[in-house]
Amino acid sequence: MESVLNYLSQNQSRFVEELCHYVRFRSVSAQPQHRGDMRACADWLVKHCRAIGLDARACPTEGNPIVIAKTLRKKSSAGRRHFLVYGHYDVQPPEPFELWKTPPFEPTIRGRSLFGRGASDNKGQNLAHLKAIEAYLKTGTEFPCDLTFVIEGEEEVGSKSLAGFLRKHRAELACDAVVISDTGMPSPKHPALTYALRGIAAFEISLRGPSRDLHSGIFGGSVENPAMALARLLAKVHDDKGHIAIPHFYDGVAPLTKYERKQMARVPFNREAYRKLLGVPALHGEHGFTPEEQRTARPTFEINGLTSGYQGEGSKTIVPAWARAKITTRLVPGQQPEKIIKHVRAFLEKNCPPTVKMELEAGHGAEAYLVSPTSDDAQAALRALKQAFGDEPVLLREGGSIPIVNQFKKILGVDTLLLGMALPDDNAHSPNEKFDLDIFARGQRLSALLWRELASQK
Ligand code: BES
Ligand code: ZN
Repeated sequence: MESVLNYLSQNQSRFVEELCHYVRFRSVSAQPQHRGDMRACADWLVKHCRAIGLDARACPTEGNPIVIAKTLRKKSSAGRRHFLVYGHYDVQPPEPFELWKTPPFEPTIRGRSLFGRGASDNKGQNLAHLKAIEAYLKTGTEFPCDLTFVIEGEEEVGSKSLAGFLRKHRAELACDAVVISDTGMPSPKHPALTYALRGIAAFEISLRGPSRDLHSGIFGGSVENPAMALARLLAKVHDDKGHIAIPHFYDGVAPLTKYERKQMARVPFNREAYRKLLGVPALHGEHGFTPEEQRTARPTFEINGLTSGYQGEGSKTIVPAWARAKITTRLVPGQQPEKIIKHVRAFLEKNCPPTVKMELEAGHGAEAYLVSPTSDDAQAALRALKQAFGDEPVLLREGGSIPIVNQFKKILGVDTLLLGMALPDDNAHSPNEKFDLDIFARGQRLSALLWRELASQK
């Protein structure tokens, strides 16, 4: 193990250069013009995995390729434990470009951070795991278990192709557990094991009014303005205590237990520092819950995009023909995306005025994830976290979603260990995304130590 850890520390500057290379690919899954960049990024990953000594291939799907890379199994490996490492090489759209200090796909190091879209979500973490394996293979250290990397290109758009892929390759991917480093840690001094993620239900709603944009002086006042109607409609979703007023929305949501609330309150939290980090004049959320509970253990209804009328420079006096909103609700255990969409649709249809035509188009969805942090594998992961970071790890519930974790459970029958490396100020999905290079190095150590701990279970 000593030589593995030495190899890691001796090669950090090359690893950082390789991460820069990886971040340069414009692998934006939401934007069709980047289909070629997605393929190029997948091909680069395959080459990189092969150079490390893994058996790697890019598997085409209807969407973006899925990269599979495995440690070569020796005959003697029969009976050894097998783990999957899941990650994603796709990234969120980088817009708005003007808010980036340096361009999103020209990775730049400032201080101990590497700035670039995808550095922290999730390319840095994929590479940290790959570098740990490289260290074993290049130092001739026996790798204690079998490992298969599954790195996909559609996580940020709902992982549409991956569930089918898991079903098709169920035998090849049969394993003891999945490891994912696509979650966070509260600070560099708080390594974390995440035991719950929120689910999600996405949809778009559009309201159509007049058959074309109208002169707002000639006609305004005598017809409904679809943008106003949409604003009124969406304003009905929350009551003045921040609860969601949609009937049946909370059906099945278990109240937080006293024990859990007490545990969550143990993670240090400073309201003012949090307010400043987010740049808001004041915090806002559902009454009766702490910000930590609101953002991890309570469901939400969010407008992600709102479009209507004239968006160019200057003014244009029209009643727009239509208004549209992109919406996601975050879900907690007990809620199912299909049912939520049904209740949302019924509520919006009931409250939509007859002066506009409403259409609701359902998008991707995933249930929340909750796993026991007391299993033997979770305990092994906690030991590796402690050794790699030097501090006692914390247990977290988190608010983000990783849609495929439930499919790993349903299709492969296994739990997922969520070992995050992203810091709260990494700016995931925001301008100026960055990855902390010290966490990158410690993440590699974590991975190296983890396989030994996990392999020795059972
Ligand atoms: N890395 C995030 C998920 C995440 C972030 C989990 C922080 C826990 C803490 C992932 O890349 C992501 O952004 N997922 C999307 C999924 C969605 C598009 C279906 C999300 O949560 O918005
Ligand atoms: Zn993301």
